[in-house]
Amino acid sequence: MARYAAITGTGSYVPDKILTNFALEKMVNTSDEWIRQRTGIVERRIADEDMATSDLGIRAARQAIKMAEIDPLDIDMIIVGTVTPDALFPSTACYVQKGIGAKKAAAFDLSAACAGFIYGLDLADGMIKSGRYDTILVIGGEIFNKILDWSDRGTCVLFGDGAGAAILQGTDEPKGILSSYIGSDGDYSDVNLLGMPAGGSRMPPSHETIDQKLHTIKMRGREVFKLGVRIMPEAAQHALNLAGLTVDDIDLLIPHQANMRIIEAVGDRLGIPREKVFVNVDKYGNTSAATTIIALDEAIREERAKPGDLVLMVTFGAGLTWGSTVIRL
Ligand code: ACO
Repeated sequence: MARYAAITGTGSYVPDKILTNFALEKMVNTSDEWIRQRTGIVERRIADEDMATSDLGIRAARQAIKMAEIDPLDIDMIIVGTVTPDALFPSTACYVQKGIGAKKAAAFDLSAACAGFIYGLDLADGMIKSGRYDTILVIGGEIFNKILDWSDRGTCVLFGDGAGAAILQGTDEPKGILSSYIGSDGDYSDVNLLGMPAGGSRMPPSHETIDQKLHTIKMRGREVFKLGVRIMPEAAQHALNLAGLTVDDIDLLIPHQANMRIIEAVGDRLGIPREKVFVNVDKYGNTSAATTIIALDEAIREERAKPGDLVLMVTFGAGLTWGSTVIRL
């Protein structure tokens, strides 16, 4: 009998502190009007200085565990998609494990930038289908505010902090992840296209790397924009093909929340009406690996996505990486 990975619980957490476009006007040479028109972002959340990504992930995970009505000891595996881990090692997933008391789980981080959550879902789906694992917690979480160059208006206005979590459990019913697709293209791995140059083995931390602000995100926005608009519709269509479905079957599209213009272009290219496209980039900005799962959690809690609905999720990120999935809730 075919085995499926059902999503039995979701959760999300964003910090209380709100940074508006108007507040940013006082920090860099930008304007609320420019940010709204070019990105659709109105405000974003900023984590307290003493908070790390696992602190956000733990809060999101607790909600997902509650919705799934499971015991943390039931969790076999924890996957955290993040590029802003608490430390390079140990993994953020191990801190989450400790925080929620999931003592029986194997825990590890996954680096796929904004595609981190959907990469995690894909792995979890395969693990559950293989029969080796039954209950997997997948988190996408980031604290981007700590890797932003707050003097670079081209990047600092775009990102925010947050985390989302999903519990996946094996089932024989045809629900949950119906299809899943991930891909990457290392030809676009130029760290200055989208990435953080220093802090790794190529460029370890030094006084020079700090002076040159190389521990902050670098991005050539216009190029990334074009790649996103091309790659996301292709990836979404691929997941639909794998599931044997068409866009007309889809109840809700959840694209990566990087920029309103990219979101609209992806929906339009796929031919999905705007009312079926979930948007929360206005409230949170780009939370990287967390965007799609925060959106899914909100969609479920706001009943924009109901049991039985078909949800198409698609993302892209640094690497380049991309991923898409069709889920029956
Ligand atoms: N405020 C005011 N003006 C600005 C700002 C700002 N915050 N930022 C840039 N500008 C200026 C530029 O300097 C430029 O001025 P110029 O014409 O005098 O040179 C002008 O605005 C236009 O700049 P562009 O970069 O061409 O603007 P664009 O319309 O491309 O919008 C943006 C820029 C919003 C960054 C867009 O390119 C974008 O969203 N790119 C994709 C970002 C993205 O999706 N990232 C995903 C990350 S995924 C991950 O893995 C982390």
